[in-house]
Amino acid sequence: MTAQLIDGIALSKQLRTEVAVRALALKAKGITPGLAVVLVGDNPASQVYVRNKVKACQDGGLHSVLEKYDAEMTESELLARVQALNNDPAIHGILVQLPLPAHIDAQKVTEAISPAKDVDGFHIASAGALMTGMPGFWPCTPYGCMKMLESIGYELRGKHAVVIGRSNIVGKPMALMLLHKDATVTICHSRTQNLKTLTLQADVIVAAVGKRDVLTADMVKPGAVVLDVGMNRNDEGKLCGDVDFAGVKEVAGFITPVPGGVGPMTITMLLVNTLEAAERANS
Ligand code: GUN
Repeated sequence: MTAQLIDGIALSKQLRTEVAVRALALKAKGITPGLAVVLVGDNPASQVYVRNKVKACQDGGLHSVLEKYDAEMTESELLARVQALNNDPAIHGILVQLPLPAHIDAQKVTEAISPAKDVDGFHIASAGALMTGMPGFWPCTPYGCMKMLESIGYELRGKHAVVIGRSNIVGKPMALMLLHKDATVTICHSRTQNLKTLTLQADVIVAAVGKRDVLTADMVKPGAVVLDVGMNRNDEGKLCGDVDFAGVKEVAGFITPVPGGVGPMTITMLLVNTLEAAERANS
């Protein structure tokens, strides 16, 4: 193996220690940073995700509340809950777990969250702030990717970064964050022609498609940095990313594993955003 691993678990541990220290400083002023996680329905994956988020808050010394509602909850009931949390001074961050049941307009609910408490960074105001370089909250997964690049001291200025995937949650915000660091950014997607020609030119590749083996060794320039945002299952049912890890690690300079790479960083950046929200609310 030539590539060095970027260890998301070790980096998360370090960042969460910093969060805990900053949380203590706030507590000394009588403020406990608080996150509200709202789950509607009984999607099994969502239940695991929200449990992990609430536990990470507790471990980091943050206050968290988990509000669980059955799948029949109406849109107006949910909007009323979001409004109540917007007005709750003990809550600094609000996360409504997606997906929501089909009868609820997820966009409407996302826009109902106060931008000052939008720790997911999904609100249009947060997206606009990211695009224009104004203060706001950055979506946790691409933010975590940026922290991983920072952790290896990677200088993005003038480098070519290729983002595979154009979702509002990962691909698009990732491209903007890389652009803010003066990288030259190419966004690729399912309709992109000659993907390999583009990835072979990349100094940094972020794979965020949600499909196995989107990136294979023959598509990677020797020494490139490869960040794998994917979370898939292989034929044996084991967790794997979008990158053919076994092949690409022989070519890349740095690579994130799955599991243990970007995944833990997503929750860590949620804690960072919640802490930041509490600090801003009390500054
Ligand atoms: N569903 C899967 N990931 C996420 C996330 O990061 N935030 C929210 N709100 N829902 C999700």
